[in-house]
Amino acid sequence: MQPRKIAAGNWKMNGTPADIPEAHGIAEAAAAWAGVTVLCPPATLISQLAAEVPGSALKLGGQCCHPAAKGAHTGDVSAPMLASAGATFCIAGHSERRADHGETDADVARQCEAIWAAGMTAIMCIGETLAQREAGETLDVLAAQLDGSLPARATAANTVVAYEPVWAIGTGRVASPEQVAEVHDALRARLRARMKDGAGVSLLYGGSVKAANAAELFALENADGALVGGASLKADDFVPIVKALAAS
Ligand code: PGA
Repeated sequence: MQPRKIAAGNWKMNGTPADIPEAHGIAEAAAAWAGVTVLCPPATLISQLAAEVPGSALKLGGQCCHPAAKGAHTGDVSAPMLASAGATFCIAGHSERRADHGETDADVARQCEAIWAAGMTAIMCIGETLAQREAGETLDVLAAQLDGSLPARATAANTVVAYEPVWAIGTGRVASPEQVAEVHDALRARLRARMKDGAGVSLLYGGSVKAANAAELFALENADGALVGGASLKADDFVPIVKALAAS
């Protein structure tokens, strides 16, 4: 089983209806290649985008979810709510959620279960801090995060894993191809060891991906795509990344 090529954009806490034309530009590029293009806008835009780009090749995703389906959790959004709005993917365990909201590996694992129960695919994120990298702990930290955050019934069909070094997110400091290759090869080996179809899990890199550095990352054997923050906000920035992945 070959991993799917996936170009995913994460708008984070950016975007109002005025930005919907950017999503239309991204949807056009999504229709022009055989891989998967996912856009994770703020939850407030999902249903509007689903209505405006119906039947589109552009998949929509949530950015996080509460592990419960409903209840007294003010300000939270659940996986079935995201799915009912039109999302088919949902990010779990982004480092900004882990840092800003104290989400633990166990929380992330519960979110994955909720995402799957709602019929969506989880984009599960892991990443080391700069201090952990400088202490030579990167591979151990990532192995522990992967094992703690990914429930046993993960499959290549219901899960995408994103490697996002914390020090590379939003900093303009992209990991080198050698650094990404070392991590992705180690993650692939670990996924193969724990899952029957681990060879088919899409492994995305995230952290300051831009058109200028995308092609050299996508040339790596175990880099199946990217999770893109800042450069996904404008179609002019994101579409060249999608094209670089299509050409890889
Ligand atoms: P960035 O964010 O591309 O702006 O660095 C990546 C991410 O957080 O997914």
